[in-house]
Amino acid sequence: MDRLLDSLFPSAESIPETWRLEAPLEQRDYLVNGELRRWDGPLATVRSPVWLKEGGEERQVVLGSAPLLDADTALTALDAAVQAYDKGRGAWPNMRVAERIQHVETFLARMREQRQAVVKLLMWEIGKNLKDSEKEFDRTCDYIVDTINALKDLDRRSSRFELEQGTLGQIRRAPLGVALCMGPYNYPLNETFTTLIPALIMGNTVVFKPAKFGVLLIRPLLEAFRDSFPPGVINVIYGRGRETVSALMASGNVDVFAFIGTHKAASDLKKLHPRPHRLRAALGLDAKNPGIVLPQVDLDNAVEEAVTGALSFNGQRCTALKILFVHEDVVDAFLDKFQRKLAALKPGMPWEPGVALTPLPEPGKVDYLDGLVADATAKGARVLNEGGGQSRGSFFYPALLYPVNQQMRVYHEEQFGPLVPVVPYRDLQTVINYVLDSDYGQQLSLFGNDPATIGSLVDTFANQVGRININAQCQRGPDTYPFNGRKNSAEGTLSVHDALRVFSIRTLVATRFQEANKELISEIIRNRQSSFLTTDYIF
Ligand code: G3H
Repeated sequence: MDRLLDSLFPSAESIPETWRLEAPLEQRDYLVNGELRRWDGPLATVRSPVWLKEGGEERQVVLGSAPLLDADTALTALDAAVQAYDKGRGAWPNMRVAERIQHVETFLARMREQRQAVVKLLMWEIGKNLKDSEKEFDRTCDYIVDTINALKDLDRRSSRFELEQGTLGQIRRAPLGVALCMGPYNYPLNETFTTLIPALIMGNTVVFKPAKFGVLLIRPLLEAFRDSFPPGVINVIYGRGRETVSALMASGNVDVFAFIGTHKAASDLKKLHPRPHRLRAALGLDAKNPGIVLPQVDLDNAVEEAVTGALSFNGQRCTALKILFVHEDVVDAFLDKFQRKLAALKPGMPWEPGVALTPLPEPGKVDYLDGLVADATAKGARVLNEGGGQSRGSFFYPALLYPVNQQMRVYHEEQFGPLVPVVPYRDLQTVINYVLDSDYGQQLSLFGNDPATIGSLVDTFANQVGRININAQCQRGPDTYPFNGRKNSAEGTLSVHDALRVFSIRTLVATRFQEANKELISEIIRNRQSSFLTTDYIF
């Protein structure tokens, strides 16, 4: 392990030219009211999880800096969004759906041109490997295409009138107002865009603040945002949440709060809103998804899924399997196979072919994980895999912890990193109780092949979590499926289809089905005197 750690971080010259860094990027631009404005105030240093060898030492790479806007400047972005919405009378919220779609398509074409730049920054800023960084970019583009298609479907269905009990009506989804969109550092592009794009396309205006890491990678998209949307429709701000976002929420001018992060931060921010009943929230929050391995099981499949489920992107996924309950009859074989699979995962730098384990972006994360391991081992667990828990700089080699019990912190805390706690069980009721008593309710995985047991566990857990995975790891995709959670794990449901609904409200225009009214409505449609009242069919 020492040899592996010694050779982990490269020298600058050994990095393939395509992925080599140029000079540090001093980013001072932010986007307000259709203009890239320059910030002359303080900047935050942006550090990479990657360290480089230099003159016999290893040093953390400084990637550049990003603006630390103050509250007043953040509020100028909100003002621009408020003006562009103009109490619902702005050009954007009133634009025909087909036209709004054209703006989003223009943006998508410009975004695709930035693939290489964004992928490179994903690797350098958050340490995501090349394959997954490319996947994040492409999945985000696909999500935009799917969103456009879903909106076309929705709009086609809204293009007709309905007649109920003598009342003629047309129902359309209308925007809600100004949306504040904030994503997480583990999917700084994808998860942010899964709220940002639906919010925009439904006619809301937006203030977007990038995640705490994965900040510079938004820079290559700023011109695309500026040129693709009318002024004020999309505004991009930077800075500390405490300073900027708190002021936005306290202003009372945010109508929709789309946030992926901790439930504590979400609650604190929601409380700042002076009229909480007027704030709609779409939240993706904490999770501690369990994997439950039953005694009658295809163990090879369970191990395969558990390893990727627990350790892809170093366990830094909200959907990661964060605790494994394994039946005593199969636990030894499970651990043995798990260790062998884990040993085959390649540590290295994000751009190296086949790399699975990479450095972690959060400062202090290695110490936090060390603390969880120390706590568990002091209370009777062992690190089973060779080198497990060893670290160098920002890199932490995954630790398989066994046997874990409820006295240990890792049994309860969301580690969000490469720690795999395994709890042996004999009585399935103890596992059921864990789920019932948990503060989290995002997803879980069941591994087994006895129909009676699986069938009854599905019923037991259907009212506990948002998704039950059978013989498969937890995950968000496919993006057309609902993604949500219960308890502290989420508010609202996101999927391509649901997100369009989250960021809009059904609005009805109704009239008595009488000659004069029929004539009036027909005239409005014939003369194209309304964007709402129209029977246009989008092809
Ligand atoms: O971090 C949470 C993400 O939504 C997980 O998405 O399951 O596709 O990795 P994923």
